[in-house]
Amino acid sequence: MSTRHLVSIDDLSLAQIRELFVFARDFAADLRAHAHLCRGMISASLFFEPSTRTRLSFESAMLRLGGGVITAADIRTMSSSKGESLADTIRVVGGGYSDVIVLRHSSEGAARLASQYSPVPVINAGDGSHEHPTQTLCDLYNLWLERGEIEGLDIVLSGDLRYSRTIHSFAYALARFGANVICCPQPGFEMPDYVLQRLREEFGVEPQRADVSRLGDIASQSDALYLTPQKPHQLSLFTDTRGRDIERVDALYMTRPQTERHPDGGRGLDNYLQIGKRQLSAEPLKQAVVMHPLPRRDELSEDLDSDPRSIYFKQAARGVPIRMAILAYLTGAISLKAEQPARELQAHPVSLGQNPCPNATCISRTEARHVMPRYRLASRHPLRAHCAYCSHELQFQLVGSSDTREFFPRDSIELRKLRPESLVFFSTAAEALTLGFSPAAAGAPTT
Ligand code: NCD
Repeated sequence: MSTRHLVSIDDLSLAQIRELFVFARDFAADLRAHAHLCRGMISASLFFEPSTRTRLSFESAMLRLGGGVITAADIRTMSSSKGESLADTIRVVGGGYSDVIVLRHSSEGAARLASQYSPVPVINAGDGSHEHPTQTLCDLYNLWLERGEIEGLDIVLSGDLRYSRTIHSFAYALARFGANVICCPQPGFEMPDYVLQRLREEFGVEPQRADVSRLGDIASQSDALYLTPQKPHQLSLFTDTRGRDIERVDALYMTRPQTERHPDGGRGLDNYLQIGKRQLSAEPLKQAVVMHPLPRRDELSEDLDSDPRSIYFKQAARGVPIRMAILAYLTGAISLKAEQPARELQAHPVSLGQNPCPNATCISRTEARHVMPRYRLASRHPLRAHCAYCSHELQFQLVGSSDTREFFPRDSIELRKLRPESLVFFSTAAEALTLGFSPAAAGAPTT
């Protein structure tokens, strides 16, 4: 059987996630009773970015399962500071040093890259602003414990929705579970287009404008959006009659400004949203649990800590049993009955031309010497493709075929005939000509 990895929350089916919840609840009933499960195993923590909860809860989880832990928590002590590629580090750490690798990295797509080289399971503990699937499992587990189900819940996501990886993985998962999301971002930090596009294309979520006046201060300046799963098999509470009004919110999920990823280092950030008892007195929030992946800064005021709706410290504590379940599953110590999700879209290498990924912090750009860009086709006509590492939409004007050495405008119908693995992306004709491609003759461009 091929090595299992947890790079994206989509690597697990909903049924598998539910099974992991049941294991986590059993583990939580007596955290000390499972030390036989991973005896003799070692997990390696490779943290190229700061962490408190994720690293320590993973290490605590492995120790509670009876295994051991090796840690590289400070990048300055690692050979990457001598210029070693991530791929080499992973090959070494996965080659006999450990049975599972927990990786946090500042570049989007780092865990995907690591999974291509690692002989042991790789767990994405946060890759730049992209995804944080184990935090999402923890968040979903909390909702499941607090609310009994996830389908049909109404969840407000607030704060820095642009750069918070916890938000992106959570939004994908909530869509798949059939929960409704109300985005109340800090102005200027709205959900990124590539996330909205993916929610629409892959999970059938239709963003709608939202009237969130009943939510009071939290939403007063926000350009709020409803993200409503529209697929018939999913529950949608926002019907046309109720669509513009929010009567009751089940959970309010707040995030801190991710200043380390802001292009200006967070200098331009005044008046960041703040939630306290007063904001929570809005009628639809009366029953909402308050969640936060932590660390917080000023966005959750301390007067909330004693409020019974605040579950953020419980949420962090529950990170241990859910991570025990994740480690036990990926190392083969427990098995799940449910199937893995159907194969995702195939990734193809971009072997010629410039890297068409527009995201400067994608691993395909930050480790350009070691990483061959890869893409997944989102649509054949008009041709649209996403970076297979960071999920951003590729930017290009012309597309060539490495088979025929011809190039076409991106909206040419002829592109449908090309083999996906032969596509080459160009921003200008000059670039294509330099690489020895010529404009396609008859039949192109046609739309
Ligand atoms: C989050 C992260 O690292 O993305 N922290 C965590 O893992 N609990 C959230 C954050 O840093 O804001």
